[in-house]
Amino acid sequence: MAERIGIVTGGGDSPGLNTVIRAVVKAATRRGWETIGFLGGYEGMLNPVQSRPLDYREMDSLLFRGGTILGTSNRGRFSAKVGHGEVRRVPEGILEEAYTNFKQLGLRALVCIGGDGSLTIAQQLFEIGMPVVGIPKTIDNDLDATIMTFGFETAVNCAVDALDRLHTTAESHDRVMVLEVMGRYAGWIATAAGLAGGADVILIPEIPFDYPSIIARIEERESIDKHFTIVIVAEGAREREGDYVASSSSETGEARLGGIGHVVANEIQTRTGKETRAVVLGHLQRGGSPSAWDRQLCTRFGVSAVEQIADENYGVMVALTPSGIAPVELVDAVDKIRTVPPDGEIVRVGRALGISFGSE
Ligand code: F6P
Repeated sequence: MAERIGIVTGGGDSPGLNTVIRAVVKAATRRGWETIGFLGGYEGMLNPVQSRPLDYREMDSLLFRGGTILGTSNRGRFSAKVGHGEVRRVPEGILEEAYTNFKQLGLRALVCIGGDGSLTIAQQLFEIGMPVVGIPKTIDNDLDATIMTFGFETAVNCAVDALDRLHTTAESHDRVMVLEVMGRYAGWIATAAGLAGGADVILIPEIPFDYPSIIARIEERESIDKHFTIVIVAEGAREREGDYVASSSSETGEARLGGIGHVVANEIQTRTGKETRAVVLGHLQRGGSPSAWDRQLCTRFGVSAVEQIADENYGVMVALTPSGIAPVELVDAVDKIRTVPPDGEIVRVGRALGISFGSE
């Protein structure tokens, strides 16, 4: 019987999931292995198992197709993450049920494509004996132990496109435009897109803001005859001494961040009298075709994951390192999130250009 590996996509989707699936299936097929895809995230590994073989021939269009053909979920019996910094152990019975089904399918290893939460589950499966290899996915770019996750660059491109469009309308109407982007408790998308898209104010979770600093930047622009201002705000940004703005709590108990854009816009309008509008970019950042950068990154991650399985190197995540794609210990990737250093180079570059981080 041919060797078989499994593949699962967990957590929120991210551009490039299908590109990774394609790379894994192609690389596995060339070794004579079969690939079984679990459907609907980790839930597909539980009774009744939902899985299907992935055919080499259906991979062609996946290079540039957004989403995941396997489906995914960030809730259900497997939810391992419950809040900022809190990790819940998945019940032993659930882990064992998945492991039993894994063995019954005759699988040699499982490729787990996920962010912080899904790779925490992968680590827990590894701890009970399942041979796993992780691949770092998330538009938030907040995973430790890799220079970059896949999906991030595509999300940034989406935010920059939005900023370009907001610039022209803001300038026409002499308005302040506030763009809220995703990122959970990390400000990578806001910072990278803010620099690339020429934002005047960047608000991120790592640097709590105060309104006088933001207003000072708007007034400074007015004084040099720039009657419009572009603000980009990460969904996890908060006022100094303030709390995160969460629109609701998800079924997993994890706060669903969102709404800070409108809060900031209302406050700016009240304090300056300038017409201010807010736009929430939301899930547009997660949809659609992956960028060229993400396609090649996903392809390299997928092939490397298959190589780890061939080498029987388990409990690892394939990561982007200065010397290329390399395996790192999964446990080192999941125990903490990577955030934007408040005094780091990227923030200093912004400040050197006169961008306000709301804390000057
Ligand atoms: O982690 C990815 C992410 O898109 C975050 O940026 C965002 O806070 C969250 O997922 C939204 O999740 P949901 O799919 O539940 O709306």
